[in-house]
Amino acid sequence: MIEVRALAEAEFRASHDLFRRALLLPPVKDEDWPRGSGRYELGRVHGAFDGGELAGTAMATTNELAVPGGRVPAGAVTGVGVRADRTRRRVLRGLMRAQLDDVRQRGEPVAMLHASEATIYERFGYGVASRHRKVELERARVVFREDAPRGGEVRVLDWEAAEPLLPEIYQRCGIDRPGQIGRDKAWWSGMRQYLGDGCLIAVHTGEDGVDDGFAVYEPKRGELAVLDVHDMKTADATAAAQLWRFLLGVDLVDRVVGHVRPLDDPLEWWLTDRRRCAVTEVEDDLWVRLVDVLAALRARTFGAAEPVVVEVRDEFLPDNAGCYRIGPDGVERSTAEPQLGLDVATLGALYLGDQLMSALVAAGRVEVRDPAAIADADRLFATLETPWCGTGF
Ligand SMILES: CC(C)(COP(=O)(O)OP(=O)(O)OC[C@H]1O[C@@H](n2cnc3c(N)ncnc32)[C@H](O)[C@@H]1OP(=O)(O)O)[C@@H](O)C(=O)NCCC(=O)NCCS
Repeated sequence: MIEVRALAEAEFRASHDLFRRALLLPPVKDEDWPRGSGRYELGRVHGAFDGGELAGTAMATTNELAVPGGRVPAGAVTGVGVRADRTRRRVLRGLMRAQLDDVRQRGEPVAMLHASEATIYERFGYGVASRHRKVELERARVVFREDAPRGGEVRVLDWEAAEPLLPEIYQRCGIDRPGQIGRDKAWWSGMRQYLGDGCLIAVHTGEDGVDDGFAVYEPKRGELAVLDVHDMKTADATAAAQLWRFLLGVDLVDRVVGHVRPLDDPLEWWLTDRRRCAVTEVEDDLWVRLVDVLAALRARTFGAAEPVVVEVRDEFLPDNAGCYRIGPDGVERSTAEPQLGLDVATLGALYLGDQLMSALVAAGRVEVRDPAAIADADRLFATLETPWCGTGF
């Protein structure tokens, strides 16, 4: 019999070590625990017990998600792991049940996560709400176009000097784009520990003297000298172009790799030969679960079109099941005949504008009862900006 409950503070480290073991990592060292422990919130860390022993764990942190036209309170789910000798006994299912019930009780309409594997979370109602890409560039062959944006200065800092500056710069870097989430001090501290002292931070200062972008990068010397760009945020195109120019100008480096970049990163538009910017991976970025479908839909704005009535199926949180009338003036529960039908995970893929209804119809993920509603749904859900999270948690 599996019993799930919120863990006491004294149990957080055991939860953390179980999670690390599940990810095939060694337990945390004493000296590293204080940096990693800051994000553990009392009441939001769950443990599943089998015969009195901790068999699995999952946690969430309190955050916000930028959605089209606004922000919504969101539980950021992380630290999910089950002991290797207790897997496939529904431990995760028990944890997800307790966690989503808790998210709902806290009044957070949305839960979100990054998934270790794409096969795990759809059954609990999560859908891929944004995607990211990886780019790789052979440094010697990259030439910037004359008309690429240029301006300001780049300086290089270590973690010690950069950590106090980064939260404020991050705030300046377009956190209203759908998919963006908050990064508090505990997040930065945990990220510093996770990425390690091999990293350097390039900070861009604009012509006005204000820091408006940064890149956390890690040079590695092996057979090839590779510069991994783990995290980069900028307030505008000039800061982005100048940071890429800097990163692609570091002596001795053979290859520059940009991880978790937005799909619409303009880098290739700034190069004389756009093929030098090779997109080597496009993957799921943020998974979103509409925990309270009505409140979550009401938190975002919709484009100009005729309203559509959509029937939502939700096996894991059946209160959400039913019809919703979605229009530019708002969203209501509806008793009208549905025009389109989908499950809650598919709605998650539409939520931030990553997918259009017509694409999901083509994929066979939507039941169409009134074909005229597809084009209206496309106009309602479409967003100007490509959603992107780019914040690991
Ligand atoms: C992923 C993990 C948490 C699953 O835990 P679990 O207790 O074995 O999962 P459950 O037994 O509750 O499984 C629930 C359902 O998910 C399925 N499932 C679970 N893990 C899966 C996986 N990795 N791939 C495919 N399906 C999976 C189960 O088959 C089951 O399906 P069903 O409801 O149709 O029967 C566990 O395998 C683990 O700790 N993995 C390593 C760490 C990790 O990847 N953590 C996630 C970080 S985002």
